[in-house]
Amino acid sequence: MKNYASFKIAIVAGLSLATIGMASSASAQMASGQVLANTCFSCHGPAGHSAGDMPTLAGKDGEAIKFLLEGYRSGNLKGTVMNRIAKGYSSEEIKALAGYFSSQAK
Ligand code: HEC
Repeated sequence: MKNYASFKIAIVAGLSLATIGMASSASAQMASGQVLANTCFSCHGPAGHSAGDMPTLAGKDGEAIKFLLEGYRSGNLKGTVMNRIAKGYSSEEIKALAGYFSSQAK
């Protein structure tokens, strides 16, 4: 009887862990864009809201951000610092960054 009860608890715990696991992998994708984006805030402003001469990234079209970053990475676009910066990111990370900044309010 006691064994059955702890067996049931183990199953319930296992199921909820599986659910938490699925939920956190979805939010990990969201979070990784945000975590990566922290590096950009020093120049492009908090959450991409630039107060100075740097281009504002918040609310910019995601495809445009992706295109620009891929361009800087490949060298098709010439910038002052962005070529070096973009080279540090994979296509997946560029996608996550574009997703993060495009989803910020303008
Ligand atoms: C050291 C300052 C600096 C950092 C850090 C930085 N940027 Fe930039 N960014 C610039 C400058 C300056 C430009 C203008 C192009 C150039 O001169 O390289 C630019 C341009 C851009 C553009 C093109 C915007 C447009 O409208 O033309 C995008 C997109 C961009 N940055 C994304 C990012 C992302 C994403 C990060 C973080 C991974 C980042 N930047 C980090 C300075 C920075």
